[in-house]
Amino acid sequence: MVAGSGTMTVEEIERVTVLGAGNMGHGITEVIALAGYDVTMRDIKRELVDDGYGSIEWSLEKLAEKGHLEEPPEAVLSRIDLEVDLEAAVVGADLIIEAAPERMALKRDIFAELDEYTDDAILATNTSSLSITEIASATAHPERVCGTHFFNPPVKMDLVEVIYGAGTSDETAETCHAFVESLGKTPIYVRKDVNGFVVNSVLGPFGDEAGWMVSEGLYEIREVDAAMVFQRGYPMGPFELGDLTGIDVGYHVRKEAGKEVPPIVEEKIEAEELGRKTGKGYYDYESGEGADYE
Ligand code: 3HC
Repeated sequence: MVAGSGTMTVEEIERVTVLGAGNMGHGITEVIALAGYDVTMRDIKRELVDDGYGSIEWSLEKLAEKGHLEEPPEAVLSRIDLEVDLEAAVVGADLIIEAAPERMALKRDIFAELDEYTDDAILATNTSSLSITEIASATAHPERVCGTHFFNPPVKMDLVEVIYGAGTSDETAETCHAFVESLGKTPIYVRKDVNGFVVNSVLGPFGDEAGWMVSEGLYEIREVDAAMVFQRGYPMGPFELGDLTGIDVGYHVRKEAGKEVPPIVEEKIEAEELGRKTGKGYYDYESGEGADYE
């Protein structure tokens, strides 16, 4: 390992690596390639990388159909490299964004390994709610570690939280902030490394309350979603949103925070009905019925 040699500026960022090809990983990769950067997307198995790439192809076609692309999808895809080997994916990268499943032990293992393969790269984690400080402490360079929390689906969602861990340098956070702006997104600084940061601190209790109300038999899933959409004007109710983000994601966020999980969530995990990605969650997407609560 080479000792850190100063902080990367946004102008110096040319090559980005995203670790993880799941919903967030492939979505973040797409956004970065759309902004003109060369980006490597890495996951632990070739099938996962290929699935993620397929989702990017689908999304780019959709954007092209609607006239939202300034260049052919192939031009965007040509900036994306695929990798399975971690070392090959990260050596020479200026910015690495980890988007692995929401488990502290896993993220710490990845960051410890990144420390061996990188010198002055910025190491960012796309965590929903885990402590940046704790993830960063797996490296010898917490000043180069920062949170960059994108929202699902990244290509459509504007906000990105740029989160300080206790050891994050201002230079690192400022470079991440400027990088997010260069993607055409709106970054906000989150200076307190509290569980859930800003957005999920507010969104979490909303999803929990909905989960408990349905688990206790007070209301139906469709009623709760309809109430939030048609009264509050939210784009989706909490259950439809759970299906979009992945019921397993919310489950792990709660477990890692030591919270009790509403039984309806446990049931879905046991049945492996995790939302859109498995074709079934709170709603059935295979039947074509989907989140029909009108
Ligand atoms: N790429 C390209 N096109 C997409 C797409 C994607 N990723 N996702 C959906 N589309 C397409 C749809 O297929 C649809 O195409 P069609 O008209 O040909 O069928 C088109 O975009 C329009 O989609 P919709 O009519 O469904 O709706 P909108 O475009 O109006 O909005 C939405 C879609 C942006 C997802 C909106 O419903 C929304 O904002 N939902 C809430 C999302 C949210 O809150 N995300 C944050 C979750 S929390 C999180 O991520 C935190 C994490 O830590 C867990």
